[in-house]
Amino acid sequence: MKILFINGPSLNMLGIREPELYGKADYPALLSFIEDVCRQNGIEPAFFQSNHEGDIVDAILSAYQKFDGIVINPAAYTHTSIAIADALRAVAIPAAEVHLTDINRREDYRKISFVRDVCKLCAMGKGFESYKEATEGLLPYLKNEK
Ligand code: DQA
Repeated sequence: MKILFINGPSLNMLGIREPELYGKADYPALLSFIEDVCRQNGIEPAFFQSNHEGDIVDAILSAYQKFDGIVINPAAYTHTSIAIADALRAVAIPAAEVHLTDINRREDYRKISFVRDVCKLCAMGKGFESYKEATEGLLPYLKNEK
């Protein structure tokens, strides 16, 4: 079972970036947290982080026939990018949307998610734990149980 974890703009600044919102742990700590989750669930993870919308689109399209699932935190592109949503539609790989914060309880402009309809589920508001919830929530879709 291979899952591609995609993280959008500024998530590589975790620990420095608005720690009161996103926490004090850094991006490498997030990756090792996800690695642990994957080890516990027999998943082979791969990671991609970019601050560029087109590069995220390319990463999604390159996943075609290579990955069983995608866990994506599109960060600010969540609220703006039809291109990322369309790329997920194009490859039709089961995907989970994830956010560290609860985007429904923040500014109004964060309440819109263009990827929501394309994803099987959305986990948010639990910091790193959101990634665990998203990954484990996606598993039944990859095993054709759902
Ligand atoms: C985020 C929420 C987004 O609104 C924001 O632009 C981010 C991070 C989150 O993980 O909580 O960059 O996706």
